[in-house]
Amino acid sequence: MHDIIEELEKKRAAARLGGGARRIDAQHAKGKLTARERLELLLDEGSFEEWDMFVEHRCADFGMADNKVPGDGVVTGYGMINGRLVFVFSQDFTVFGGALSEAHAEKICKVMDQAMKVGAPVIGLNDSGGARIQEGVASLGGYADVFQRNVMASGVVPQISLIMGPCAGGAVYSPAMTDFIFMVKDSSYMFVTGPEVVKTVTHEEVTAEELGGASAHTTKSGVADLAFENDVEAIAMLRRFFNYLPLNNREKPPVRMSGDAADRIDPSLDTLVPDHPNKPYDIKELIYKVVDDGDFFEIQREHAKNIVIGFARLDGQSVGIVANNPMVLAGCLDIKSSIKAARFVRFCDAFNIPVVTFVDVPGFMPGTAQEYGGIIKHGAKLLYAYAECTVPKVTVITRKAYGGAYDVMSSKHLRGDVNFAWPNAEIAVMGAKGAVEIIFREDKGDPAKLAAREAEYKARFANPFVAGSRGFIDDVIQPHETRKRICRSLAMLRDKKLDNPWRKHGNIPL
Ligand code: HXC
Repeated sequence: MHDIIEELEKKRAAARLGGGARRIDAQHAKGKLTARERLELLLDEGSFEEWDMFVEHRCADFGMADNKVPGDGVVTGYGMINGRLVFVFSQDFTVFGGALSEAHAEKICKVMDQAMKVGAPVIGLNDSGGARIQEGVASLGGYADVFQRNVMASGVVPQISLIMGPCAGGAVYSPAMTDFIFMVKDSSYMFVTGPEVVKTVTHEEVTAEELGGASAHTTKSGVADLAFENDVEAIAMLRRFFNYLPLNNREKPPVRMSGDAADRIDPSLDTLVPDHPNKPYDIKELIYKVVDDGDFFEIQREHAKNIVIGFARLDGQSVGIVANNPMVLAGCLDIKSSIKAARFVRFCDAFNIPVVTFVDVPGFMPGTAQEYGGIIKHGAKLLYAYAECTVPKVTVITRKAYGGAYDVMSSKHLRGDVNFAWPNAEIAVMGAKGAVEIIFREDKGDPAKLAAREAEYKARFANPFVAGSRGFIDDVIQPHETRKRICRSLAMLRDKKLDNPWRKHGNIPL
């Protein structure tokens, strides 16, 4: 028996060593942690239960029969984050560059299948050179098996990807189908094809960082949600992020009470909005002042900054926040901001997280760039997302709510549960100047008359009371009491039930 136990320990030690001390040193020299070190930081101490440590690949080509590493380049299992269950896989770059073999894929599929059965999130720590080249189609099949599971798990359990090294080819498509992607600056890359292939095909000369680094994906493409300085920061933030989410789509998100009173008022909000309607102000100031302890976990903060999205708590309850930001492009909706917010609203809806929307929107962005880019279809994504959404929806119009954008931003007409406006709110088809230039075109040569018409239009529509008189606004509230009124609304909505009609699935404009 003693020998058998020793043999087991030997096998475990071999698996723990991955690709060997030389490759571990190389990993460290790049400022990266190993797959196991990452899991140690991610999971509560001593909570990790590892599976499939002894799995090996079955490839015999290209000398692979004699080149086997127990675990085959990915560490899998389950553990706890702040006492809550999570399934994990962590790719080991020291073993064949973390490349995915058939056996490696089977290990990932196994934890995904179990996560679905018990209703727990899946976190993938990705560090992989893509399909294991020596295995050919077997590895492509392995990828497809993972993709299929990503799609089946979508909207059932949260899926989060941390990109912690190169992710090339197939290695990017599984993360792309997960709910959130976080990257590490200067050491992680995502691209369908690397710089060499790009040079051959398009003759573009581009570095890996420019093509698919954290900056490219968190600012330009919007593929990744956040970028962090290093592995340690990324993992610490992921643990914090996890606390906002339910374990599955049948659960409510965890409640974390703080000492911040639900009826706290903030007098400084009464002067947040400038007197001049075209003067910008930072909507994030409102968010920080309204949410519990000023604690707001912003997502995609460097991409499409004209809309702000993220998680916070109100009276202990997780909420998703969506807010137009007048600081950027006057807060108007364009292609990128519509897509950004639409996906976020759908995530919240899938996982029972109420949506709080702050509206200050002059309309959709005009112009050929937007029209040719398909603003009609992309703007419709946000409209569709809000209209389909059945979780509690609380909306506050802080200033402008013009045109189609008024309808889109969680209006009463899209089943907004509670719709508030601040007293200075302007709710109309368009701004007064543009409106009178159209409907009183005959007065164009008479500036005095036009100014009088403009004043008349303003007096009639640049306020929240016309919408209030129709019940489109439930109440006009004082800015300083915004937190109190939202918290009360959310408490009232806690057991809200609303179902959409049965269908196989809707057809969101993609
Ligand atoms: C097998 C691989 C591998 C792969 C890397 N390695 N990628 N082994 N299959 N795909 C091995 C290397 O041979 C090396 O082994 C070790 O991993 C580390 O690789 P290096 O090149 O030394 O590291 P680095 O310089 O950091 O470069 C990392 C890299 C590069 C950028 C990932 O290795 C690379 O470009 N690899 C190929 C990427 C790729 O084209 N993948 C296939 C994509 S097609 P040793 O023994 O020396 O340590 C694809 C199709 C799926 O994925 C489509 C599904 C939809």
